[in-house]
Amino acid sequence: MVRRYLVAGNWKMHKGVSETTAFLEQLLAAKRPRNVDVVVCPPYISLPAAAMLLTRSGIGLGAQNVHWESSGAFTGEISAPMLRDLEVGWVIVGHSERRALFGETDETAAKRARRAQDEELTVIFCLGETLEEREAGATMDVLRRQAGVLGDLDPAKLVVAYEPIWAIGTGRTATPAQAQEAHAFLRAELAGQLGQEAANTVRILYGGSVKPANAAELFSQPDVDGGLIGGASLDVPSFSAIIRAAAHLAAGESS
Ligand code: PGA
Repeated sequence: MVRRYLVAGNWKMHKGVSETTAFLEQLLAAKRPRNVDVVVCPPYISLPAAAMLLTRSGIGLGAQNVHWESSGAFTGEISAPMLRDLEVGWVIVGHSERRALFGETDETAAKRARRAQDEELTVIFCLGETLEEREAGATMDVLRRQAGVLGDLDPAKLVVAYEPIWAIGTGRTATPAQAQEAHAFLRAELAGQLGQEAANTVRILYGGSVKPANAAELFSQPDVDGGLIGGASLDVPSFSAIIRAAAHLAAGESS
């Protein structure tokens, strides 16, 4: 497969500076496979400490949000140049918690993503349907609408994360077949907007209650290129086990 597996940890509002330091020291001390890309996304306040520890580690550093302006009167916001200044290389945009709790829309998510890419950040663009939408048979319509903004983005700096909202933090995971169906649909949407060749290079992560016990099954689907991990990324043994699951599959594919 041309796409390398990516395992990204979305820490949400967990781990201040001291916990971030302890986690990363433990992660860096452990043996890590080289055939999987790994990214951690701590809260803003922990980014400087994480950036120092991760220099030349091969582990990517991401933020959980970004504003679309470079600077200005936007109390409480952080800009893409500020993230760049800290050598942050990745940013999560449009997470369902931002959409549901903080007024994020398709339009604002698109603005953030474009600005972040202008600053050379790789965007992890999140989308996914609610339980109500799935049960009403509207999943693909919702994904089509949410993915409608991806055509304006640079595929070389884009990762898509399919996160069915009913699976986030609930312990209820999409089945591998449900994940594959949504991912294949999203790849076809990307192909329609960006061309098939570019769509084939964009990684589509699955997110929503990924755990060591279900990671391999999900990641083995042809259009599932890794995971965006919440709860299970907060603890080094479980995060490492998920990375190993991806590494094992990658080694199987290349042999
Ligand atoms: P979860 O979160 O793994 O805890 O379900 C995933 C996410 O929200 O990115």
